[in-house]
Amino acid sequence: MDETLQVIKNYIAKNKPKTILEIGTAVGYSAMCFSEFLQDGGYIDTIERESTCIEEAKQNFIKVGVQDKIHLYEGDALEILPTIQKTYDMVFIDAAKGKYPFFLSQALRMLAPKGIIFADNVLYKGYVMGGYHKHKQRTAVRNLREYLKEVTENPELKTEILEVGDGLAVSQKKSDM
Ligand SMILES: C[S@@+](CC[C@H](N)C(=O)[O-])C[C@H]1O[C@@H](n2cnc3c(N)ncnc32)[C@H](O)[C@@H]1O
Repeated sequence: MDETLQVIKNYIAKNKPKTILEIGTAVGYSAMCFSEFLQDGGYIDTIERESTCIEEAKQNFIKVGVQDKIHLYEGDALEILPTIQKTYDMVFIDAAKGKYPFFLSQALRMLAPKGIIFADNVLYKGYVMGGYHKHKQRTAVRNLREYLKEVTENPELKTEILEVGDGLAVSQKKSDM
């Protein structure tokens, strides 16, 4: 398991969230790791748009026997997120880097008091902190910078940027907000 997932898994094992939202399932590896440590009766909602990943993730959930704990939303998170009306103890953002500010606005709308948001790849190979990047990476870099500005300046959040993997932003909602 990579260092980033290990950090998140440690948090979950200690804090036992009941509800998790994941944006970016791929083939379900992280969702399956997290499902082990949910509170009793807890569940994970995870969103994926690539049909080949969706099929593989579904098979994996059945193979491992976690299909009752993980609900897979099939489609683009940009369309699905605004339709979800729930509260989550934890949100894991791990999808298109250019959309992180939108994912953040949706995560904040649904985050429980003391809830936590993990966002992976926020340092994007050093480009976000000023490393040279190519034109095609420009939108992702700009939006990741916007994400980091929002989470560090939002008075409702306490944020740490961890230099694990490709950069992990950890933002916890303060209890009195
Ligand atoms: C890095 S992978 C996720 C890995 C997974 N969380 C894990 O750790 O096992 C990112 C995934 O997000 C999906 N994705 C990217 N943008 C998306 C969007 N707008 N809506 C839904 N899925 C998206 C991609 O298809 C890809 O499978």
